[in-house]
Amino acid sequence: MDSYVPIADGVFWIGVNDRETALFEGLWPLPRGVSYNSYLIVDDKVAVVDTVKAMKADQYVAQLRALVPAGKQIDYLIVNHMEPDHSGSITLLRDLYPGITVIGNDKTAKLLADFFGITENVQVVADGDTLPLGRRTLQFHLTPMVHWPETMVSYETSGRLLFSGDAFGGFGALAGGIFDDEVDVAYFEDEILRYFSNIVGKYANMVQKAIAKLAGLEIAVIAPTHGPVWRHNPGHILDLYDRWSRHEGEAGVVLAYGSMYGNTCQMMEAVARGLTDEGVSNVRIHSVSTTHISYLIRDAWRYRGLVLGAPTYDVGLYPPMSFFIEMLARKKLQRRLLGLFGTYGWSGGGVKTLRSFADDGDWDLVEPVVEARCHATPADQENCRLLGQRLAQRLRE
Ligand SMILES: Cc1cc2nc3c(=O)[nH]c(=O)nc-3n(C[C@H](O)[C@H](O)[C@H](O)COP(=O)(O)O)c2cc1C
Ligand SMILES: [Fe+2]
Ligand SMILES: [Fe+2]
Repeated sequence: MDSYVPIADGVFWIGVNDRETALFEGLWPLPRGVSYNSYLIVDDKVAVVDTVKAMKADQYVAQLRALVPAGKQIDYLIVNHMEPDHSGSITLLRDLYPGITVIGNDKTAKLLADFFGITENVQVVADGDTLPLGRRTLQFHLTPMVHWPETMVSYETSGRLLFSGDAFGGFGALAGGIFDDEVDVAYFEDEILRYFSNIVGKYANMVQKAIAKLAGLEIAVIAPTHGPVWRHNPGHILDLYDRWSRHEGEAGVVLAYGSMYGNTCQMMEAVARGLTDEGVSNVRIHSVSTTHISYLIRDAWRYRGLVLGAPTYDVGLYPPMSFFIEMLARKKLQRRLLGLFGTYGWSGGGVKTLRSFADDGDWDLVEPVVEARCHATPADQENCRLLGQRLAQRLRE
């Protein structure tokens, strides 16, 4: 693919797929790649909405040239978001089209200066401002901290097209189809949730504010900067982002455990068995040592039940579990039915740290918390199973 696709009369997707980058933001694995979506509006005035990561600039320019031949002018570049996966080709575009005016809000202007030294031909817009292009008009709505301070969306009023930036986006390169009715939406959803939970989730309350603010708009198409363009059912992606940002979990349980020699793992099996006793089939088990944290965060965001189990190590919590709970706290995930268990040999420290994590967050702790010395006794095993059963009962309520 990787050539332009019309999304409305005179409006084109001119994004690129990235199947090369291993880690998004140097952190998050991209086994299915990611797309950087950019859009072109050809009207009396010609406007580009967001650009692409610099690594794909050559291909990006070729697409742009196919629609706006050399010598023709691009009037506006609308910058909804300044993260370099979208701002990476701004400098190049200004070089290619010297008359171009860059449009953003006051916070965008600051970042344009700080990242690229761009201060000239910048037009600052405020919330609600409009930009007539001819038949089409863009209206700007500020959506701060979704997930950067300058983030905004651009709404095209005649076609009711929402250029939403990272909001409503997801991981997963576009494989031929770019629209929701051309792709396997269910397949994409895993990666959209992973994107949401890893990148945007911390700012869930700002996503809620943005959704409330956009509620007054009639939206025919949602065109985000990553992943599919939603023209068939834009309500679906709105609904997913809405539920995820309200910390609503599905009926299911993720068990994240660490274990060096199998003792804690054995307790985890007993918890899982307890869940099964009470009819929970949606059980996802992850070793914190071998599953990338990106997926741990995703599944914690997906399911209402979260069980954490780990040994004591160096007088504290097992390091990969430490990292996981630190990230959960940072991402501000809330309102999970939380189960805890662990092991120690002499000093203890693992379960104690898990308990303080539970105390510090907005969790619904399910008893018993089970702590075994070296090896789970039959009574410990029974308690683990009870923990699973109780959590399952709470899940049903
Ligand atoms: C490298 C290592 C460091 C440990 N450090 C501590 C410790 O500081 N305090 C403690 O109470 N137990 C400590 N333990 C004991 C473990 O918590 C205990 O052996 C437990 O059974 C491990 O569970 P596992 O079989 O699931 O790995 C340590 C064990 C290992 C292997
Ligand atoms: Fe971003
Ligand atoms: Fe992005």
